[in-house]
Amino acid sequence: MARVATMVKTLREQERGHFCRSQLDYWATMMLGNGGVPTRASNGYVEKTSDDYADNFDDQLLGKLSYRGPELIAGLLGGRQATKAFDVLDGGCGTGLCGPVLRPYARRLTGVDLSARMLANAAQRGDYDDLVKSELTAYLRGRFGSFDLVAMADTLIYFGDLVELFSLVRKSLRQRGLFLFTVETSLAPANQDGFGLCPSGRYRHGAGYVDGVLQSAGFNIVQMHEGVLRKEFGESAHGLAISATTS
Ligand SMILES: C[S@@+](CC[C@H](N)C(=O)[O-])C[C@H]1O[C@@H](n2cnc3c(N)ncnc32)[C@H](O)[C@@H]1O
Repeated sequence: MARVATMVKTLREQERGHFCRSQLDYWATMMLGNGGVPTRASNGYVEKTSDDYADNFDDQLLGKLSYRGPELIAGLLGGRQATKAFDVLDGGCGTGLCGPVLRPYARRLTGVDLSARMLANAAQRGDYDDLVKSELTAYLRGRFGSFDLVAMADTLIYFGDLVELFSLVRKSLRQRGLFLFTVETSLAPANQDGFGLCPSGRYRHGAGYVDGVLQSAGFNIVQMHEGVLRKEFGESAHGLAISATTS
């Protein structure tokens, strides 16, 4: 065990927070059980992974992986009149696949992402008024009462602990604001009240955990639908599409 711990320490130092950090954390946690699961993916890991993936993202996700994030967000909006009246944030906007879903509701549509290459692809779509390269929690910290609608499709796979993020989203929303997002689930039944890091380096969340954090942050849950998010290794990756409001 001591040798494994030394090996993990060396790998962490050499890897400097970039490419395989989340996978490394996963295996370290599995092997050593020390310190529990890291609370979120490092900025370096997210930025490098997303930059590397950006140019193939749409083909991979929409084609091979049958990605349904934007469709699930559209489902949560179903029935609402698209009045172009909202200030909207697409948190972790990636290449902007949710742009066409959110644009009809937006007076101003802002996309935020850590990856410059993802943002460059989003810019080509022409749906966004602003595209900002920033870490999400850092961005939200200065944006109290700024939005009517915040959407995060498949972004929370990079966050384990949701407490700080949901609290910041809550503060960034105005009265009767809407928060729409997806999480990946498929956790073991015993872990429904928590979150876990998978070998893929992505986080999964239990419904009970998400519910509890939303309520503590001051949200009222309006919809919580189970659905398939995309494929993973040929299997369906299951998740939840959730809408919550501020009072
Ligand atoms: C799986 S992609 C989903 C992109 C888009 N929402 C969609 O549905 O196509 C997740 C995106 O979130 C971004 N992201 C993850 N964590 C982030 C953070 N802490 N701050 C800013 N962007 C983040 C990643 O760079 C990536 O582009």
